[in-house]
Amino acid sequence: KKLEPQTTRETSFIGKMKKTGKNIVVFYGSQTGTAEEFANRLAKDAHRYGMKGMAADPEEYDMSELSRLTEVENSIAIFCMATYGEGDPTDNAQDFYDWLQEGDADFSGVKYTVFALGNKTYEHYNSMGKYVDKRLAELGARRIFDLGMGDDDGKTCVCVCVPFDSKNPFLAAVTVNRKLNKAGDRHLMHLELDITGSKIRYESGDHVAVYPINDSVIVNRIGDLLGVDLDTVISLNNLDEESNKKHPFPCPSTYRTALTHYLDITNPPRTNVLYELAQYATEPKDQENMRKMASSSPEGKALYQSWVLDSCRNILAILEDFPSLRPPIDHLCELLPRLQARYYSIASSSKVHANSIHICAVVVEYETKTGRVNKGVATNWLKNKMPTDNGHKATVPMYIRKSQFRLPFKSTNPVIMVGPGTGIAPFMGFVQERGWLKEQGKDVGDTVLYYGCRYKKEDFLYQEELEEFEKTGVLTALNVAFSRDQAEKVYVQHLLKKNKEAVWRLVHSDNAHIYICGDARNMARDVQNAFYEIAEELGGLSRSQAVDYVKKLMTKGRYSQDVWS
Ligand code: FAD
Ligand code: 2AM
Repeated sequence: KKLEPQTTRETSFIGKMKKTGKNIVVFYGSQTGTAEEFANRLAKDAHRYGMKGMAADPEEYDMSELSRLTEVENSIAIFCMATYGEGDPTDNAQDFYDWLQEGDADFSGVKYTVFALGNKTYEHYNSMGKYVDKRLAELGARRIFDLGMGDDDGKTCVCVCVPFDSKNPFLAAVTVNRKLNKAGDRHLMHLELDITGSKIRYESGDHVAVYPINDSVIVNRIGDLLGVDLDTVISLNNLDEESNKKHPFPCPSTYRTALTHYLDITNPPRTNVLYELAQYATEPKDQENMRKMASSSPEGKALYQSWVLDSCRNILAILEDFPSLRPPIDHLCELLPRLQARYYSIASSSKVHANSIHICAVVVEYETKTGRVNKGVATNWLKNKMPTDNGHKATVPMYIRKSQFRLPFKSTNPVIMVGPGTGIAPFMGFVQERGWLKEQGKDVGDTVLYYGCRYKKEDFLYQEELEEFEKTGVLTALNVAFSRDQAEKVYVQHLLKKNKEAVWRLVHSDNAHIYICGDARNMARDVQNAFYEIAEELGGLSRSQAVDYVKKLMTKGRYSQDVWS
């Protein structure tokens, strides 16, 4: 239910700038809120330079007005643009992107600068920011500052909106939740979410987004430290009248609800949060350290890196370790970013499981340098979602995010899937689907899997299912790299190299599609290198030719990655 009446919004940003005396407009292409947050901060910071800024969602304004920005005296357009996986724009920047591509606008005299948000571990790093930067210049705009290249481990995403989406998730019942590994101190799990009756459709390779909730232990502890009654009813209003949203999260609410459902209390806070909170530290030394960490001085940055990031200190750890820091909870709630949905590569095929979505995930739990045990929000919450919880159905708020990670259009094309660890997830869907195609009497090309885990006896996920697929011929080859069953490491790329002739034949002669899923930091790069080496050795190519060869496969959609860090 909507608590607020829907207000009609102005679509003319030039009109709004003129009316409110703004001369900087900060547009954001944002999916998970990071670019939006940056844009809001930049807009607020404008006053430091004697300017006045406003943040704007390109989806909500008539972007064709951009060529008229010169009507506003001393004006600048800033673009904070995030990129999604395969180099795509975020949903809210899609129309703007399409319009830019059409390209008959004339931006002469328009001053602009672009800040790109992305993640270096991805192939199409910051491509949306780069595109906007280049395109605006081509259309005559004047770049007043070089393109900023943001690199973060945050995930930028595109979601699909029919019928459930990020603002309106479906409450799916958990029907299966089982531990996948047979031994070892980690917890790898398989979950099944029931989407019967929801009309939700998905395809193999899509992602499911789930909204987790925060650990009540952390919420209570924050309440204790700040001496507040968490069940106080509150309504947090944006005082900034130009803000698009009246409340930063649904209100009225309580501190407990806000800290549990809406606010991110576990990621290390950004420097602007430390900067704002510093004023409440009554111990001068604490205050000085917080200000230092928020500053751009080399020592400040180094301190922030080691004390906050490397030590994985969340807001609770910071409150504990700065005993004189007791900010008013209202201000804290205002500063903390929104809790974000987590994504999982769907581990099932809708051809076989039309009414359920499978997830394969590893529970995040690690000890920090300060000796604290940090627990991943979503995975620990999912771990405890048992199908029946005291007679109640356990449910998960979820929606589907479409991806580009797709089986070949022609089932006769062979596929080579490389997915160590939880990277196996989408391939469970792919293999199920190839099996289903076979059952339908279709001709199905070779289906080759490279999977990797630590020990055969411990964490060979879906061993029975995979061996059965191999037995029935759905999987033409099941190659498993056990990394710790012998003295030297054996990884998926070693097996690819070992089978290089067969791999090369599938790729070069038989039009195979290659898929990589899992760790974005090292694995994806190492596997790509293995493909370079195979192309060099068997194709007689130089390294740069091999790199081009793989690049061409990528443009043809024959080398796809679904990776995360
Ligand atoms: P969070 O509370 O978000 O904590 C995770 C963070 O903790 C990490 O980002 C890192 O900063 C930190 N961290 C974790 N371990 C350590 C450590 N040892 N030392 C220091 N810091 C650490 N995950 C799956 O398991 N299966 C999937 O199929 C899957 N598919 C994905 C698909 C996509 C497109 C994306 C973007 C991600 C996918 N993920 C998948 C990852 C998943 O979305 C979550 O990030 C993951 O489950 C952790 O979420 P969490 O809330 O439990 O942890
Ligand atoms: P390790 O942990 O023994 O190093 C799933 O996580 C599997 O991927 C594990 O067997 C892990 O091995 C392995 N792995 C770790 N780094 C890798 C890399 N760079 N390339 C491929 N596999 C890797």
